[in-house]
Amino acid sequence: MPSVEEYNEKHDLKIPAHIAIIMDGNGRWAAKQGNPRLTGHHAGVKALEKTVQACAEEGVKYLTVYAFSTENWKRPEEEVTGLFQMISLYVRQYTRKLKKENIRVQILGEYEKLPEPAVRSCRYIVEETGDNTGMVFNICLNYGSRGEITRAVKQIVRRCQDEGDSLTAEDITEELISSCLYTAEMPDPDMIIRTGGEKRISNYLLWQSAYSEFVYTDVLWPDFGREELMKCIAEFNGRHRRFGGLDHK
Ligand code: IPE
Ligand code: IPE
Ligand code: MG
Repeated sequence: MPSVEEYNEKHDLKIPAHIAIIMDGNGRWAAKQGNPRLTGHHAGVKALEKTVQACAEEGVKYLTVYAFSTENWKRPEEEVTGLFQMISLYVRQYTRKLKKENIRVQILGEYEKLPEPAVRSCRYIVEETGDNTGMVFNICLNYGSRGEITRAVKQIVRRCQDEGDSLTAEDITEELISSCLYTAEMPDPDMIIRTGGEKRISNYLLWQSAYSEFVYTDVLWPDFGREELMKCIAEFNGRHRRFGGLDHK
């Protein structure tokens, strides 16, 4: 059996090191079947499980998923409460599996503001998988990119005002700002996938996506899995990234 790297090389498919996903369309998936929105979120968890597995097997180094935005609090209380119950359950259920598969989980966002059981589950999974050395799996929970940047600015201003810290305005670089974001020490996403047919960023990874390739699919998130992932990776392979330079093709 060839290794993942050997297989991909042979098939000439470059696997993005960092994939970020806006998992959208759960509600519409449920509505299509005449079911309540929460059944769509439950189906979404199954799709996430398949996608995590596929990414790890394909050799993706970082997978970052948008699970709950700072704007999602605007939804009906019943949906928000149900989502958090589901998140606590999912996290607890999959901790052992992810630990065994050498996947390291990180939570990005103000997750401490979630209800206590969800916060505890998050701390548990991060701690339990903390020594793993395989794929990094980032779950964005109560995440908003403008909030993330605002938080970074506050941290930097506080350091500038702190007399015991020698930081001045002149020392503020792009690297310093990046290091104050939740994604500190991670490469920027190479590809951002949005399912569900909408073509917008919805306050996700605004700073980090400066040169990401955007891939949109009409597939609703609960129907996503390995096959759809590979289609997105194939589309990524057809793109010519220039990073502002010249294309030497
Ligand atoms: C994405 O699916 C999941 C979350 C935002 C939590 P939606 O719930 O937004 O599903 P649609 O877009 O209404 O179909
Ligand atoms: C983005 O989806 C947030 C998540 C997937 C968690 P939304 O459904 O909240 O985005 P909008 O409201 O369509 O922009
Ligand atoms: Mg949506």
